[in-house]
Amino acid sequence: MKKTIALLPLCCLLLWQACSGDKASGKPLNPNGDSELALLMREMFEDGMRVREQVKNGQAIDIQVDFEKIMTAKATDPKKMQPDDFPQLAGSYVEAMKALKAAPAAEVQERYTAMVATCMNCHENICPGPTVRIKKLIL
Ligand code: HEC
Repeated sequence: MKKTIALLPLCCLLLWQACSGDKASGKPLNPNGDSELALLMREMFEDGMRVREQVKNGQAIDIQVDFEKIMTAKATDPKKMQPDDFPQLAGSYVEAMKALKAAPAAEVQERYTAMVATCMNCHENICPGPTVRIKKLIL
């Protein structure tokens, strides 16, 4: 019992860190290394920043990140970070990415904005830390 209590603050700290965002230091967030989902999220962000430039410059976009992996990648703590509404939130993001990929030139901006909104929507619901960073994706 005593042990469990002693571990509680540590767990909270790890969870808070995982969802709190900016790892300028580049160090892994938790002692077991970064989760598959956290690594994918970073790729989604980096790829998003590249695509944002293309949208801003009116160029053709090329999405490189394997975004459908969001449906299967494991989080740092799947119980807390992939709650019951995760599949639905992740599904909206995947649909938005597909729509962006398929968008005719005239609709790219609108689709891009809708896609970033699905990042924000999931994060505001289950993982607020990275929202500061995600705002950089807004056009
Ligand atoms: C369905 C929910 C969901 C969607 C949609 C989503 N995220 Fe995340 N994101 C998460 C969860 C959960 C974590 C925590 C993962 C972990 O720590 O294991 C996370 C973590 C992150 C992190 C921190 C990664 C790190 O370094 O630890 C960033 C940055 C991020 N997301 C950006 C984005 C961006 C950009 C998008 C859209 C392109 C996006 N997210 C869409 C749920 C989501």
